[in-house]
Amino acid sequence: METMIVETLSDCEKAPSLGETKRCVGSAEDMIDFAISVLGRRNVAIRTTKNVNGSKQSIMIGSVKGINGGKVMQQSVSCHQKLFPYLVYTCHSVPKVRVYEADILDPNSKAKINYGVAICHMNTSSWNPNHGAFLELGSGPGRIEVCHWIFENDLTWTVAD
Ligand SMILES: *[C@@H]1O[C@H](CO)[C@@H](O)[C@H](O)[C@H]1NC(C)=O
Ligand SMILES: *[C@@H]1O[C@H](CO)[C@@H](O)[C@H](O)[C@H]1NC(C)=O
Repeated sequence: METMIVETLSDCEKAPSLGETKRCVGSAEDMIDFAISVLGRRNVAIRTTKNVNGSKQSIMIGSVKGINGGKVMQQSVSCHQKLFPYLVYTCHSVPKVRVYEADILDPNSKAKINYGVAICHMNTSSWNPNHGAFLELGSGPGRIEVCHWIFENDLTWTVAD
């Protein structure tokens, strides 16, 4: 319990990185206010992956839709649920992204087993060279874009389509 509280607090108190805006929020209203302030619009949308179906197994990607017509968005907001005695999310601005939503299918039955949201970070030039994505993919800062699923319980905010 102590470790969890200390980790969440230190994450909340950590200074934002260059050009980043961050806030720890304890209510939906706080989260919405933060998303609106970063995105600069009141018309915003929230997305997340629906459940954990398909993890650690083979899957098939069904229909894919690019949010904002698949175009790069200058700004988005990601929020991550933290372990704490009450509900806390750490939210931060994430610039230069493409966001996609995809049906995740069972490869055998072709049945839809999940709705997945994925995000692509288009400019990785300021990332740590030891970031797990670079180690995994054998690349480095600014040489590739990095895409990943938004985990269940994490949230991504964008200007509404
Ligand atoms: C998760 O997948 C199972 C089949 O593997 C399916 O029965 C269930 O409805 C899926 N859950 C959701 C929320 O789609
Ligand atoms: C990528 O980010 C770096 C700093 O983080 C910036 O100097 C550079 O102009 C950016 N590149 C593009 C194409 O936006």
